[in-house]
Amino acid sequence: MHAPKCAVSFMVNGQTTNVEIAPWITLLDLLRGPLELTGTKKGCDHGQCGACTVLIDGERINCCLKLAVSLDGADIRTIEGFGTPDALHPMQQAFLDHDAFQCGYCTPGQICSAISLVNEGRAYSRAEIRELMSGNLCRCGAYTNIIDAIETFLQSNGRHKTDGSGR
Ligand code: FES
Ligand code: FES
Repeated sequence: MHAPKCAVSFMVNGQTTNVEIAPWITLLDLLRGPLELTGTKKGCDHGQCGACTVLIDGERINCCLKLAVSLDGADIRTIEGFGTPDALHPMQQAFLDHDAFQCGYCTPGQICSAISLVNEGRAYSRAEIRELMSGNLCRCGAYTNIIDAIETFLQSNGRHKTDGSGR
């Protein structure tokens, strides 16, 4: 007996994408497998590390916890949808300028999360950035430089406030 397949249609990085998938496949496995978008990383596969962060309808989400079949009509954006090697997204450039990575495994998720964080309009100070990026773990411990990068991005967009921490 063949496993049931479901037809789903959504946008991925601005392109209409039609797939026929098993109902249990996660968006993470769909992206990294059939769609060959391996920029999105699998860390824990249990919603605890943030390595798989992508934007769905503008909101950041751990896509290892999202069944792809539930996303009919959604607008999905992965790290491949931000900037190009010749024209980086300003957040990517800020990460580069601040050496905000070591092995780089967490970096796509960190950048997607940071872009969404700015769009949420809830983080203006260093302490707020630290708190609201706490779902994205970095085993290399590049946290200070990651916060520096996001803080610089906010400053360059006139959206930063000091929090009295002296940083
Ligand atoms: S791989 Fe999704 S949160 Fe860790
Ligand atoms: S740069 Fe290595 S896990 Fe974050």
